[in-house]
Amino acid sequence: MREQELIKLLDDMSIMEKIGELNQIPGEYYKETMTATGENTTLNFPKELIKTIGSALNVSDPELIVKIQKEHIENHPHHIPMLFMLDIIHGLDTTFPIPLAQGCSFDPELVKTLSSAAAKEACVSGLHVTFSPMVDLCRDARWGRVMESSGEDTYLNSVMAKAAVEGYQGKDLTEEGTISSCVKHFAAYGAVEGGREYASVDISERNLREYYLPPYKAACDAGSGMLMTSFNTIGGIPSTANKHIMKDILRDEWNYDGVVITDYGSLSNMESHGISEKDDVLSEYAINATVDIEMCIGRYYQGLQKLINEGKISEKQIDDAVLRILKLKNRLGLFENPYRFANSEKAKEICRSKKMMETAYKAVNQTSVLLKNEDKSLPLKKDEKIAFIGPFLDSHDLLGGWPGNLKYRSEDKSVLDIIENDYPDNHYLFAKGCEMLGSEEPMLKRRKLPFEENQNARNEKIDKAIEVAQKADKVVMLLGEHPRVGGEITSKVDIRIPKIQQELFDAVSKVNENVIVVLFNHRPLDITEISGKAKSILDVWFPGSMGAKGIVDMLFGINSPTGRLSMSFPYGVGQEPIYYGLLPTDHSTQVSDTFVTGYIDCPLEPLYSFGEGLTYTDFEYSDFSLNKKTLAENETLTVSVNVKNIGQRDGYETVQLYFRDVFASVSRPTKQLIRFEKVFIKKGETKEVLFYLTTEDFKFYNFDMNYDYEPGEIKIFVGHDSRTNECKSIELM
Ligand code: BGC
Repeated sequence: MREQELIKLLDDMSIMEKIGELNQIPGEYYKETMTATGENTTLNFPKELIKTIGSALNVSDPELIVKIQKEHIENHPHHIPMLFMLDIIHGLDTTFPIPLAQGCSFDPELVKTLSSAAAKEACVSGLHVTFSPMVDLCRDARWGRVMESSGEDTYLNSVMAKAAVEGYQGKDLTEEGTISSCVKHFAAYGAVEGGREYASVDISERNLREYYLPPYKAACDAGSGMLMTSFNTIGGIPSTANKHIMKDILRDEWNYDGVVITDYGSLSNMESHGISEKDDVLSEYAINATVDIEMCIGRYYQGLQKLINEGKISEKQIDDAVLRILKLKNRLGLFENPYRFANSEKAKEICRSKKMMETAYKAVNQTSVLLKNEDKSLPLKKDEKIAFIGPFLDSHDLLGGWPGNLKYRSEDKSVLDIIENDYPDNHYLFAKGCEMLGSEEPMLKRRKLPFEENQNARNEKIDKAIEVAQKADKVVMLLGEHPRVGGEITSKVDIRIPKIQQELFDAVSKVNENVIVVLFNHRPLDITEISGKAKSILDVWFPGSMGAKGIVDMLFGINSPTGRLSMSFPYGVGQEPIYYGLLPTDHSTQVSDTFVTGYIDCPLEPLYSFGEGLTYTDFEYSDFSLNKKTLAENETLTVSVNVKNIGQRDGYETVQLYFRDVFASVSRPTKQLIRFEKVFIKKGETKEVLFYLTTEDFKFYNFDMNYDYEPGEIKIFVGHDSRTNECKSIELM
């Protein structure tokens, strides 16, 4: 449809039809009644609103979607099709590694491929929008939702945000295999106090703009069809009411013309925030902040009607919001093709197909991070006597928090299945060792999860594990967080592995000093004790549908782990929030070296820092050079470095470039990622890696909050990870 026709359509719509567009209905409604016009028993939505409702959440069955859409179009006075939305966080039917792990790939092409694969499954299933990517900057591992983001770094998050949007949306949203993205949660949800879920955020304007907002902007600039508000307040103002971030920044500064949706209940939550219990007051805040759709609760329609009747808001405000939604529907081609590509027969062919599974498999080693590899204990050699121990050994659930389709949670192969099928050998010994959780876990009060109750059974399992560990040359221990303790409402103050597993680790590592830990986790954990004792640690996060095969092949060296940390691992929970590149501060320049920042009982740096990760070969850096000593506007600085593969295998190295603005009108980070490149280098080969920078790259919010660069020295660091000290200076003119 041409824009003129959309405007004409808008003109023809009644106010009730318009308000219908601004509301979303939970899919449960249709599952219950199976008809768009049936009696609604659970919700507060009146029939006349449902007739003109703009979208639905959580229906993913293509046949049902077609049925609902058909009825809806027939009943709608202007036959406007609905949008169907769902959270597809790391895949729909095929689950890929969690987004935090995808961040570890340092490979935007991979993120694009995985998002595009997820879009293909979603599109054929009849969906139009995914509530992804989540690009909240995450620097506190206590917050359970860190698994949904690509981590602690502004630049990496921005690159991955763009890649995800491009992957979901393709070049043209009318094409098969595409869906609209919805970037979330705007804004700064990752900065909640103490990592507490739904807590408040108090953040300076500079911190917000400099570090937290760029990833959302990158997604918007990449054309994300939608954006979602967040549950948190910022400086006391709920995001869903926040005119400053939404109207001033998003709409006016960034010119974002996509659709803004509340988070599930975030309009209503303003009541919990103590703003008001009245629908109209809450709705007035939201519409003034240019929020277009209320997700599922049904208070917006009540409030908006009242506001219009009382003349407190203009119909123009409603029209602007409706037009944005109509434009998205049009961008998706829904007016010409309201069912788009929903096709249940084709869905059976595409979803969880061999090709999808191959894509999932290939992602495992690229997102896994080898944190430690003493004596090169990995990869395993086939003739070694190896004991495999741990509660993840026979687990069929390696999907982690928030897989798309829960029905596949326990359908995939376990690590044990793969070893027995693909590596049949009587050298291998197995013991489960323990269940994932023991009865002492405090989280069990809040979460219904299975746990070990019986002390005798617990002792027997550990004894068996000790027995097999004693007989083995090496022990591979598969340990970690419960697969359902990641994502929303999983904030924790204890970020160690469950106690029952720590006991197992202690018992096994006492009898065998060659312990290799395969770690399953949604967030950086406190693994300081484990790290002190284990020879190797391979962090596989939650690796998805092909996790087991990916892990076993990686352990045996068929593939090498090539991921790098997208979020730092702390020495202990007391260090949180922790991230690389803190602002410089201490008294050492004036007083003495005693007066330095940090703790007296713990290093300032994290245990494993951002960007760290090993692989099965080694690299040597040389000939680091800058092509000039000064850099003026419109000039380009070329940074070059040679990287040689000095190990015994071909491999990938992620070359990382950081900078520090030495003196500036405001304090600047001690190190900031500015570029990276993941390069494949053959054994013995040397590759020259080049980076190009301009003064644009050094702009920041200065003393007067102007976004600009300042003349003076910039240190450019190159190396393997954020700990690199290899640096050269350039003078900005
Ligand atoms: C979450 C969002 C999600 C929405 C819809 C909310 O509780 O915060 O991230 O997209 O639910 O499922």
